[in-house]
Amino acid sequence: MPENILEINNLKKYFELKKSVFARPKVVRAVDNVSFKIPRGSTFAVVGESGSGKTTLGRTVLKLIEATAGQVLMNGTDIYSLNKKEFMEYRRKMQIVFQDPYNSLHPKKLIKTIIGEGMKIHFKGMREQMIRKRITEVLNEVGLREEHMFRYPHEFSGGQRQRIAFARAIVLNPVFVVLDEPTSALDVSVQAMVLKMLRETKEKEGLTYLFITHDLSVVDYLADHVAVLYLGQVVEMGKKDEVFTNAAHPYTELLLNSNPVPDPFLKREKIIVDGEIPSPINPPSGCRFHTRCRYARSKCREQEPVEREHRAGHSIKCHYPLS
Ligand SMILES: Nc1ncnc2c1ncn2[C@@H]1O[C@H](COP(=O)(O)OP(=O)(O)OP(=O)(O)O)[C@@H](O)[C@H]1O
Ligand SMILES: [Mg+2]
Repeated sequence: MPENILEINNLKKYFELKKSVFARPKVVRAVDNVSFKIPRGSTFAVVGESGSGKTTLGRTVLKLIEATAGQVLMNGTDIYSLNKKEFMEYRRKMQIVFQDPYNSLHPKKLIKTIIGEGMKIHFKGMREQMIRKRITEVLNEVGLREEHMFRYPHEFSGGQRQRIAFARAIVLNPVFVVLDEPTSALDVSVQAMVLKMLRETKEKEGLTYLFITHDLSVVDYLADHVAVLYLGQVVEMGKKDEVFTNAAHPYTELLLNSNPVPDPFLKREKIIVDGEIPSPINPPSGCRFHTRCRYARSKCREQEPVEREHRAGHSIKCHYPLS
């Protein structure tokens, strides 16, 4: 088995926006040439502001939406090259937990049904007793109890619902889980407990995480590696400790110096950094970050920097790294 459970190469996801039949479609470059590797058993965090392409990246990696170009290798196999039947097994191995625990669980279904549904599809013919046994096991693992199986989502708090969503993701024995801001809709006091549970379960079940977040304290707590995303591109990437202590990209520096603040509209926190993120339809010339970079020089406006190794295992896309 390859050392990296997941490897993505030059992944792109463009959305075409058609305003009218006559106008030329506009293209949103939500994910624009992203490559990275995730070592087995580790947590790889993707961090960036709202609109930077985190969710699109997570979904494209799982083939929940089709990539425009690029490669996604899972245990060395390109999942985009598989036929429907072959892909089924990969679908089971790769799961996702969404941000919003209120909309992600069907309100009229029992928890038992919500968690057990996937088992009925993937393990056809499995006895009801075995299904219940596994559901009980995962409920316990996420900090809930067997009797919770016979309740409905509305009987649970946000934190408990997110535990249920996670139980549903791990019940099929996946090896890789994408967690898309799994705690950002939760109260701060609940967040810490859910994060602790996610960390412990990862060890027990032998999982690998792709963890999407805008919150650097969450990255600090959980991640082994981090990739900083800006307008659909990775601008800095490496071991978390290395990137946090030796941030070399001005954008990473900016993120590290900004604190997430509550956003009453989105009912969650959001990173506020100076200036608006430009549109991914018409990204700035040269370095995409130059319009907000306080160190920008003329080269930055004119020439796009290439992603390169800055130190061992630490890559950067910047003409003038900070450290
Ligand atoms: N289905 C779609 N059609 C058109 N554009 C889309 C679509 N999905 C996402 N986008 C655009 O792609 C860009 C990246 O969006 P995405 O949701 O991936 O960002 P994000 O980093 O997850 O943001 P947030 O932190 O707000 O969740 C945005 O400009 C968004 O408007
Ligand atoms: Mg998102």
